[in-house]
Amino acid sequence: MKPIISPSILSADFGHLAKDIEMVNRSEAEWVHIDIMDGVFVPNISFGFPVLKYVTKLTQKPLDVHLMIVNPEKFIPEVKALGTRIMNVHYEACPHLHRVVQQIKEAGMLPAVTINPATPVSLLQDIIQDVYMVLIMSVNPGFGGQKFIEHSVEKVRELKALIERTGSEALIEVDGGVNLETGARLVAAGADALVAGNAIFGAPDPESMIRQLHAL
Ligand code: DX5
Ligand code: ZN
Repeated sequence: MKPIISPSILSADFGHLAKDIEMVNRSEAEWVHIDIMDGVFVPNISFGFPVLKYVTKLTQKPLDVHLMIVNPEKFIPEVKALGTRIMNVHYEACPHLHRVVQQIKEAGMLPAVTINPATPVSLLQDIIQDVYMVLIMSVNPGFGGQKFIEHSVEKVRELKALIERTGSEALIEVDGGVNLETGARLVAAGADALVAGNAIFGAPDPESMIRQLHAL
């Protein structure tokens, strides 16, 4: 099975965002990955809803929105209004994760739970049946272009085993430091979807890079 490719526009050229989004529209990528940061949960701030309202209008692919913010449930209506298909919230940002997952479903979006590099896969045991997808962070969230954390491959294997053992149908997505080399190992370990920022937008031919990642 070919991996789903979700280009992260955090690494796009913000001076020519429309041009980069048109490239993604033309490409083989299935989704578009949007990183929202608050400067509290992560040490950086990306784009807010007023900007995203325009960005998402240009986007023709389903939106895979990754919220790196505290209290993500506060923004369910705003995230929905962007036309989001998948709303990713962090395990570490949601003390009442089960409730947040239900709220995302009630709003008509697919719930995904994201775990940081230091959060073990085993903590997902009691939520795995309720989520559309788990996003494994393979860097500490906050910035594009960071070095891949090797242990993430093992976490994908563990998550695959948890999914099989529990009969869950959750997809496995990985985000951070994904390129052709790390991507191939992640897919072999069981990843269904790959987020890539720098590998795509830093490539001489981003569309061809998407094709190559898709062929892993
Ligand atoms: C990091 C973000 C990622 C980031 C990935 O906090 O969640 O989506 O854009 O960028 P690369 O692929 O460059 O590591
Ligand atoms: Zn992300």
